[in-house]
Amino acid sequence: MIGFLSPGVPHLSYQTGVEHIKLTINNRVEKNLDFRSDTVTKPSPEMREAAYKAEVGDDVYGDDPSINELERVTAKIFNKEASLFVTSGTMGNAVAILAHTHRGDEIILEERSHIYVNEVGGLAVMGQLMSRTVQGVKGHMNPDDIAKAVRADNIHYPPTSLLCVENTHNSAGGIVLTVDQMKSYWDVAKAHDLNVHLDGARVFNAAVALGIDVKEIAQYTDTIQLCLSKGLAAPVGSMVVGSQDVIDKARKYRKMLGGGMRQAGIIAAPGLIAITKMVDRLADDHATAKLLADGLTKIGIKVVNEVQTNMVYVDFSPVGWTAEDWNKACAEMGWKSRGRGTGTRLVTHYGIEEEDIKSFLEGIAKRV
Ligand SMILES: Cc1ncc(COP(=O)(O)O)c(C=O)c1O
Repeated sequence: MIGFLSPGVPHLSYQTGVEHIKLTINNRVEKNLDFRSDTVTKPSPEMREAAYKAEVGDDVYGDDPSINELERVTAKIFNKEASLFVTSGTMGNAVAILAHTHRGDEIILEERSHIYVNEVGGLAVMGQLMSRTVQGVKGHMNPDDIAKAVRADNIHYPPTSLLCVENTHNSAGGIVLTVDQMKSYWDVAKAHDLNVHLDGARVFNAAVALGIDVKEIAQYTDTIQLCLSKGLAAPVGSMVVGSQDVIDKARKYRKMLGGGMRQAGIIAAPGLIAITKMVDRLADDHATAKLLADGLTKIGIKVVNEVQTNMVYVDFSPVGWTAEDWNKACAEMGWKSRGRGTGTRLVTHYGIEEEDIKSFLEGIAKRV
């Protein structure tokens, strides 16, 4: 039993330090030994308490004070005019893309981007949009390739209206795009009259890895979708930030998609804690990912990506293991991981500490 509703539980305390908020039971962080994703993070005690106490109202009428505050604060953090609370990253990307485009437009995306690969083709179904992909190197598109992908003004062609970027880039291995790279996209997009949407599901991981304020990334975007429910550990939700005009349009599309919420301050209140108090601790996840990658390399398991944030992609075939061997070893040690073929993605997050990684590595070393 967790949280403020169980005052009788002994040894339960909330450690709310400057940068860290941890659930401590007997001075230990609540474990969440699950490498599958940072989406598995559970809300901190402070988030649970905030949800319980949240002031609420009907958000479709604009009456939910907790959502209004979350939207105000988020817009400020990103130095944008407005922001919108949505149920998920997928919905945030969808409403932003719909707000920027018209039926029959073409949009440019990196070929392994989440929007193109993993969002159920929503942009074709909902937006009736054409997709044009550009092959990136480690998630980074060459600006010249973007320029070449923009359609000329010709009666035969659909108009290109939007460039979508992903930072950090998930399937490239949690790779960070630098501010210079973001600027190079912005420059090429604006030279061709395109808007720029950033799928920033993990944009705070990028900012923390670069050691910069997230505004520096945001300045080279028209809209950003950012997830509260991944490394920031909120239970639900994403935000879209942008100009007032584009956010007004996105709000209307959110309603069309059934995302107009009522007393959702209950889920927005943890989101406010996520965005104001959980960002700095992402550095811990990056450190544990590096520790994990170095340890696995020493054991003979190949790390496939350059580990820049909280993701480690591995290939266990060098030690002769199949996915079955990997999954069995993890399960024996009480970890969740989903090996497939000869490898898997391991993601570090709130609830995984340095000591957990060390004992995981010891366990793997014994079994190899
Ligand atoms: C890069 C990226 N964008 C968008 C999403 C979608 O977020 P959600 O699962 O909240 O719809 C994800 C989810 O993992 C993601 O990794």
